[in-house]
This record gives sequence, structure tokens and C-alpha cells, in this order.
Amino acid sequence: MVNDAIKLEVDITDNEFDKIYPLAIQKKSRIHWTPVKVAKIVANLLVDKAGIKVLDVGSGVGKFCIVGATLTEGIFTGIEQRKYLVDISNSLFDNYGLENARAIHANVTSIDFGFYDAFYFYNPFMENLCKSRRIDDIVTLSENHYTEYIIYVHSQLLNLPNGTKIVTYCSNGIKIPNSYKKIASYENELLDLWVKKR
Ligand SMILES: C[S@@+](CC[C@H](N)C(=O)[O-])C[C@H]1O[C@@H](n2cnc3c(N)ncnc32)[C@H](O)[C@@H]1O
Repeated sequence: MVNDAIKLEVDITDNEFDKIYPLAIQKKSRIHWTPVKVAKIVANLLVDKAGIKVLDVGSGVGKFCIVGATLTEGIFTGIEQRKYLVDISNSLFDNYGLENARAIHANVTSIDFGFYDAFYFYNPFMENLCKSRRIDDIVTLSENHYTEYIIYVHSQLLNLPNGTKIVTYCSNGIKIPNSYKKIASYENELLDLWVKKR
């Protein structure tokens, strides 16, 4: 079972994990969904005590949330603009009994970051700049959207309390406010942990 393997810290390959998804979703995994190994690191960095509320900004098929909610006592919310990905995520959270995970169908620009303690970004907006890497044709992509999302995220992060944690993975484009310090890097510096200064 996928979540037994995660709970018991058994090594599970992405190919094995991804079998929980329909084939078309599995095929997109290498480029679009967080590798299990990375998701484990991120979840352990963000959840330093039970009940920490983690937001996955652009949560796709919920792969990070499944790993995090299985492995830790954090509360994981994914927000995702593609409804069919939200539906897949929520049915898997149900199937695996993950009461500490849920996915919401929303654009990031409607989300108040103040309801969360910690944030994860896996390059969510890049498909606006690099259309060959888009997931599908069902959302409108543009450079203007990219700029709008980056500015919105920056403005939300500005208002959060000291101690707020962010992990970015392959996400150089995300503009983290100067009030956050990068305190550690992993995975050949593709994965960064940021904390708002005290
Ligand atoms: C690279 S995938 C990462 C998925 C997931 N976080 C993971 O690591 O497995 C980025 C996701 O962000 C979503 N996304 C992009 N722009 C968004 C926006 N403005 N609001 C909500 N979701 C968005 C995309 O639909 C895509 O599913």
C-alpha cells in the first residue's frame, strides 16, 4: 500500500507511487508532480509540530499533500485551478483516509495566505511562460497572468507573521520578500527553505 510505504519510511519509487493515478496523469508526473523523495523532505521541513497548516500553491493531483498528510501531523490544503485535478486529489484523500488533506478548486489570486502557517511552491506558474510545458489546454495562459500571480504571491507573503516557513522547489521565479531568509538548500540547491525573520 502506498501510504503504508510512506508511513513506514519504506523507499517507494515514483513509478510505484504514481500507479494510484490514471495513466494520463502518470505520464505527466516526471515534469509536473513532486517526486516522493522531495515531498518527504518538504513535509518534514514545513511541519515542525502537529497542526501546522500547510498550503500547496498549485497542488496538481495532490501528490505532495498525500505524502505530507501521511507522513506528518500537519494539515494540508492544496489549491488548484484545474477542477479535474482537484477532484482526483480529493477522491484519493478519501480513499486513503487522509482527513488532514483537502484540495480546493481556486485560483491563487482568491486565496488569503493568512489562514496558513507554511507554504510550498513547485514552480506553479511557469507554464504561462513556457507553453510547451503546459499540462493541458483548458486554462488560459499568458505572461500577464504570470506577472499577476507572482505579484499576488509576493504581496500575500509580505503580510505574514515572523516565523512563517516557505519551501520552494525548482521555483526561481517566485519572488520571496526580503523579510524572509533562505536558511537551507537541498537537492543540489533546487529546494530552498525560507523563514520570515524575527
Ligand atoms: C508544477 S505543478 C505542481 C503540482 C503539485 N504542487 C506537486 O508538486 O505535485 C503546478 C500546478 O499549479 C497549478 N496552477 C498554476 N497556476 C495556478 C493558479 N494561478 N492558481 C491555482 N493553481 C495554479 C497548475 O494547474 C499545476 O497543477
